[in-house]
Amino acid sequence: AAPTQDDLKRIAAHRAVELLESGMVVGLGTGSTAAHALDRIGELLRRGVLRDIVGIPTSKKTEAHAAAVGIPLSDLHAHPIVDLSIDGADEVDPSLNLVKGRGGSLLREKMIEGASRRFVVIVDESKMVPRLGGSGLAVPVEVIPFCWGHTLGRLRILFDGEPGFDAKLRRAASAAGDGGKDEPFVTDNGNYIVNLFFDNGIHGDLDLISDKILRITGVVEHGMFLGMASSVIIAGEDGVTVLEK
Ligand code: A5P
Repeated sequence: AAPTQDDLKRIAAHRAVELLESGMVVGLGTGSTAAHALDRIGELLRRGVLRDIVGIPTSKKTEAHAAAVGIPLSDLHAHPIVDLSIDGADEVDPSLNLVKGRGGSLLREKMIEGASRRFVVIVDESKMVPRLGGSGLAVPVEVIPFCWGHTLGRLRILFDGEPGFDAKLRRAASAAGDGGKDEPFVTDNGNYIVNLFFDNGIHGDLDLISDKILRITGVVEHGMFLGMASSVIIAGEDGVTVLEK
């Protein structure tokens, strides 16, 4: 039978876990693909194949999952240098730039993955896009709750004129940002998320756009991970492809 999307996620995750060595400090990603990596690391620890692993979780959810499968945990304060981080992504472009944060964990992910010697991204082939923001999914921006509508307005001004651009507060029951009438989604850091939508992806110099977003007071971080991935492991129907930076 053809592999399901979940099978592909597991295949990519297991391939990444093969890169782990005993004694490593490991950044533990968030999401359905990274969850397979957590399960695998837990299994290898139980079997004694891996020893002395210290995991640095990128979200409260991952912290709970990792603890449940027996991965010893710490944080960036105690372990400022991470040997290897493994995480999924929402989109990957041909230059290995990413969009992350559909699960809302972009800030902790960026802190931990940015502190990693090596950052390995695990995806099924559906995540590959020619241009970031092009898959119709949101590019998330974490903002301070105080006057979030003002911050959203400044993001709108920044992208004024981009075809099909829209910015919406993420609501709790609609992680994809469909603008339901529910309470604002609250991140692990107590912040809100503004979802940016583009018809045809983000055009222009991504580093410049990143800087402009980050200069808006009230913005904490955004979900574009530029130049951060060391490699991307892509599981597809025809096998596994690894792209190196
Ligand atoms: C979490 O905030 C995200 O950055 C995830 O890493 C990303 O959404 C990928 O999740 P899936 O593996 O569930 O697609």
